[in-house]
Amino acid sequence: MTSPLNDPKLEALLDRLHRQSDAEVDETDAYFARRERDGSLTDENFCDADMHRFLSDKMVALDRDKAEFCYLLCRSLGATRIVEAGTSFGVSTLYLAAAVRDNQVDNGVVIGTEHEPHKAEIAARNFAEAGLSKFIYRTPRRRSSADASERWRPGGFHAGRHLGRGSARTRAGLAEPAPRGHRGMR
Ligand SMILES: C[S@@+](CC[C@H](N)C(=O)[O-])C[C@H]1O[C@@H](n2cnc3c(N)ncnc32)[C@H](O)[C@@H]1O
Repeated sequence: MTSPLNDPKLEALLDRLHRQSDAEVDETDAYFARRERDGSLTDENFCDADMHRFLSDKMVALDRDKAEFCYLLCRSLGATRIVEAGTSFGVSTLYLAAAVRDNQVDNGVVIGTEHEPHKAEIAARNFAEAGLSKFIYRTPRRRSSADASERWRPGGFHAGRHLGRGSARTRAGLAEPAPRGHRGMR
């Protein structure tokens, strides 16, 4: 199927990343099936230390059709500032950044946050490879892993709080002023 991105270099990178993410699906499904079977997965301990360990190196990327939908949605809205909670290896972020770029607005930016440092490093490399770093502002890592688990519990996630305690701005889900004149990837 034709990609709406119209950017061969980015599409080649995304092909690779989607393949990598798809390759993890069986292992992830098997993990959750085992946890269901042994009855160790409950609302109370959802995202416990074991699950956190298991997921800490997994991409869990948006499927291609959903990511393309996000791209098209942001294009049709003329989005200029997008906040993403959970960048992982940067697959969804790349689609969002491409939308901001293609919307051709001044200072358009995707504000992303990723708890796992090594995932954030890989994402940064992917952004650079795609030539999209200047459209992406990564929030500094602020939370402990215990906090991250809490955010992902059913009903425990609040996008605003996810961005850090910081000021009322960050608690409301708004970025600190940095992105306005942001310097791209850090
Ligand atoms: C489902 S994956 C995101 C996939 C990504 N959006 C994509 O489509 O490529 C969720 C990510 O959120 C990260 N995460 C979980 N809690 C977090 C927190 N409190 N702050 C930042 N990132 C967090 C996890 O490490 C994980 O990489």
